[in-house]
Amino acid sequence: MSVKLASNTIPNQHIDKLSKWLATYPRLTKASETLKFEKAFSNYIDVNYTRFVNSGSSANLLLAAANLFYRDLPNKNIAVPAISWSTTLSPFIQLGYNPYLVDCDPINLGVNIDHLYSVIKSENISTLILVHVLGHDSNIEKILDICQERNIRLFEDTCESIGSTYKKKKLGSFGLASTFSFYYGHHISTIEGGAVCSDNIDFIELVTSLRSHGWSRDLSKGLARKLQLEYSISDFRNLYSFYYPGFNLRSTEINAFLGNLQMNLLDQYCNKRSEIFDRYLSNLKEFWSQNSSCDFLSAFAYGTLVANPDEVWEFLKSKDIESRPLVCGSMGLQPFWKELKGEPLSFRYADQVHKYGIYLPINADMNVNDVNLVCSEFKKVAIPYSFK
Ligand SMILES: Cc1ncc(COP(=O)(O)O)c(C=O)c1O
Repeated sequence: MSVKLASNTIPNQHIDKLSKWLATYPRLTKASETLKFEKAFSNYIDVNYTRFVNSGSSANLLLAAANLFYRDLPNKNIAVPAISWSTTLSPFIQLGYNPYLVDCDPINLGVNIDHLYSVIKSENISTLILVHVLGHDSNIEKILDICQERNIRLFEDTCESIGSTYKKKKLGSFGLASTFSFYYGHHISTIEGGAVCSDNIDFIELVTSLRSHGWSRDLSKGLARKLQLEYSISDFRNLYSFYYPGFNLRSTEINAFLGNLQMNLLDQYCNKRSEIFDRYLSNLKEFWSQNSSCDFLSAFAYGTLVANPDEVWEFLKSKDIESRPLVCGSMGLQPFWKELKGEPLSFRYADQVHKYGIYLPINADMNVNDVNLVCSEFKKVAIPYSFK
């Protein structure tokens, strides 16, 4: 018996439906399937707008780019959680921001409020991107207060947390904009894929233009016309006029078609993930467990700390059970950060996650026996570790 990190998120029936649909020779570049998926995802997260892109990383790149053109950004100082993902941070580096890493909270592994306060005070932060780590909320209520009080723009990288709610509100619906990933191992899959969500029309118009070359073609009629008049551009020339220094980060109708099928399974997948997390929690009481104040936890994986993660990983691998480091540990200890800054950056809690963190599989195909098997094998070698 093997237990994998990811399962058959895209079931065979979805592939069969996709084949059938392809045999009708539909248009394959962005069209009605994309618009339908964007609408369905907006309804699900309960935001006004969604823009479908080709990955969660591309969604983060669009946040970083759109933020530069949204109103008057006072400076390029951004706070980024040390426990995040390479492409939560790297788009901001690539676009010339000054990123300041923030230590993690020792319970939910989101940003540490005390450390965030000190970074905000000393570095004149204008933007904060949160990561909801492995499905858990990261003190969202306190963070909203801080951002409001200090006039800081808040983004949520929700790539690991589709479906989790805090006070009945979906993660990814709190900030100015949020991002999601539909990569293979995530809650739902469009093969590769991602989304930017927002309630703010001005921000989403920027995302829309930047997603497609910087042209005005997909913008609302009013804004497209305004730009055309502002720059005195003829209807003919407007077809190839570029108003922002854009990218091409669109996805395709094939991916959106799968996304629309996947939406039907999303609740079922999230409920399963929540149940599996609870089963791990009751089986592994003697180990530290990540936890949070979500009222519904759509867990990505089960995060814990052990004194001997390399040994545990090796042993589980020999039993055909997959596990991983607890996401990327601390960004301050990653090679690219060390190259960039000339030295590693140390944090009290994030460094311990880096050294001792490991996550165990959660996917919607797992059953009680699978979880019990993972736990019993894990306990044979794992040495409990708690934050110091
Ligand atoms: C927090 C976070 N942000 C962004 C990403 C990138 O998403 P993608 O793999 O779709 O590019 C991931 C990937 O797992 C992630 O965990």
